[in-house]
Amino acid sequence: MKIIRSPSAMTAWSEGLRRENVRIGLVPTMGALHDGHRALIRAARLRCDALAVSIFVNPTQFGPHEDLTKYPRPISHDRALCKQEGADVCFEPSVQAMYPEGFQTVVSLPAIARRWEGEVRPHHFSGVATVVTKLFGMVSPQIAIFGQKDFQQSVLVDRLVKDLNLGVRIIVRPTVRERDGLAMSSRNVYLLPDDRGRAVTLYRSLRAGAEAIQQGVDDGRAIQAVMHQVIKAEPAMTIDYLAVCDPRTLEPISTVTSRVVLIGAVRLGSVRLIDNLLVTVPRRRS
Ligand code: PAF
Repeated sequence: MKIIRSPSAMTAWSEGLRRENVRIGLVPTMGALHDGHRALIRAARLRCDALAVSIFVNPTQFGPHEDLTKYPRPISHDRALCKQEGADVCFEPSVQAMYPEGFQTVVSLPAIARRWEGEVRPHHFSGVATVVTKLFGMVSPQIAIFGQKDFQQSVLVDRLVKDLNLGVRIIVRPTVRERDGLAMSSRNVYLLPDDRGRAVTLYRSLRAGAEAIQQGVDDGRAIQAVMHQVIKAEPAMTIDYLAVCDPRTLEPISTVTSRVVLIGAVRLGSVRLIDNLLVTVPRRRS
């Protein structure tokens, strides 16, 4: 496995391969890789001939009071995982290489980025959209794989690729969970031991919402109330948002008729957790 640091070397690698019609896959990450990333890398490996995993803690997607400086960076562990899963390249650009002096252009955001995460973290999606566009430009992949864990991000990237004709097929893979259901995340290491058991409450609340839908509840507010109730029973947790949305637009749904996504973000101590569940509404007998 090659370690490539400079964007120009990255582009040279992919240009050579594309001339030979080699199908390139990219898994963009911020490192601190866990089994969720492992699943994305495996899924990519099956779908391409040459696989790059980018590891870049992107400063522009962190707000001023967020965890940029303490974000975990276990680079040897990350490289070992990429190698184990058959990546051909670990792309590890520096901040200076990604944002050299004079850098100015950012991607302006569609409506789907303004709600939910976009509201709580106003800088976040502009940073994500811009860095993903840059990575696609440098790696020129035919396919790129993202996790469903960051549902809104995956919808945004899909929109970005369509709107800007970036020519990359976006594949979204299901969230990988711990044994108790907690969605895997690089930030789970921040959870205090006492909070680790409580953290699964977010997933339980989404499950309760999904269960209500399966049982015939179709009122968006009623489903949201069910989810709220589960979180309220865990006093250490506070809610950023819990919502019942259209999975394509991320607009809240008042009456559930087909597929919906239940999305949620909560805080537990200093840790922010996000999660989501896609639910297919059962056909009702008339
Ligand atoms: O999901 C992530 O890890 C990041 O947001 C991404 C897509 C790698 C962009 O920095």
